[in-house]
Amino acid sequence: MEHATMTACPAPAEVGIFSPATSTRRRHLLGLEGLMRDRIVALLDAAARYRERLRAGRFASDALRGFAVCNAFFEDSTRTRISFELAEQRLGAFHVTFGEAGTSLNKGETLLDTLRVVTSMRVDIVVIRHRSAGAPHYLANNLDASVVNAGDGEHEHPTQGLLDLMTLRDAWHGRFEGRRIAIVGDIAHSRVARSAMVGLEAMGASVTVCGPATLMPADVEALGCDVAPTIEDALEGADAVMALRLQRERMERGLLPSSGEYARVWGVNARRVKRMKPDAVVMHPGPMNRGIEITPDVADDGRSVVFDQTANGIAVRCAVLAWCATGDAGAVA
Ligand code: NCD
Repeated sequence: MEHATMTACPAPAEVGIFSPATSTRRRHLLGLEGLMRDRIVALLDAAARYRERLRAGRFASDALRGFAVCNAFFEDSTRTRISFELAEQRLGAFHVTFGEAGTSLNKGETLLDTLRVVTSMRVDIVVIRHRSAGAPHYLANNLDASVVNAGDGEHEHPTQGLLDLMTLRDAWHGRFEGRRIAIVGDIAHSRVARSAMVGLEAMGASVTVCGPATLMPADVEALGCDVAPTIEDALEGADAVMALRLQRERMERGLLPSSGEYARVWGVNARRVKRMKPDAVVMHPGPMNRGIEITPDVADDGRSVVFDQTANGIAVRCAVLAWCATGDAGAVA
């Protein structure tokens, strides 16, 4: 089961800048779906150790010394791209980043050929963000490198899912059972929501979703969550809320009457947040559209863990990259 998305195999005997590309059976992180709870816990534990090191201003470890990582980002990204780059630096890797602009994809080369060019230069790990769901799986099947999914279309964003779990594990004092989160907004187009739901289900927390009917997938209950008719119902007694960005780039025209209407009916505001438990936290994966999905006062309130989420992103990505490279998520030297 677990092998569907995170495949394990022995590390190559020889690693480093000149390591031969020895095997097509590499470790990949393609999604949280199918990942065992124990694997998730091991990654979160490793991330917590990296976080301690990063807080102390130190190198996370030299787990990636001699490894080369290529960040291939074919969609806009600020926090995900930067935090992968910082994680790679903190682990001592050689790394490069490129996107569609300025590359041979614009001259008609296929995605696979472009990345074959990259891996022929002895790249060990490819971190990929792509607008097409399934692009990381396709590359994992066809490249001789580990592949980490940094967001594929509307499918999954597993490192975001892990950083969300890490943030909630802190807020909930280590226990997911008996806790409930409300996820609000554009569920249909959100890979963040999908990875969060899969991860939270594996950890034993429950999820209530709500949002406009036009932005709700038809089979949403199949994802193991409840659907609330209003945001007020969803937030009542919840232990956390996650507001999602309206993914306008993925919407057909006409799915939403207006941003103002959305803010009025589905926006996370102070009045609605009061319905949650007193110690409940407010999350948003970013980028935030202040005044639409979330009001500025709530985004900056003491309950908001939005910037903890981004900080945790580096630690989680250290754990994932170390696992892909060495088979040991917590390869802290
Ligand atoms: C998200 C993404 O790109 O999937 N951002 C992120 O990585 N934190 C969410 C979004 O763009 O709305």
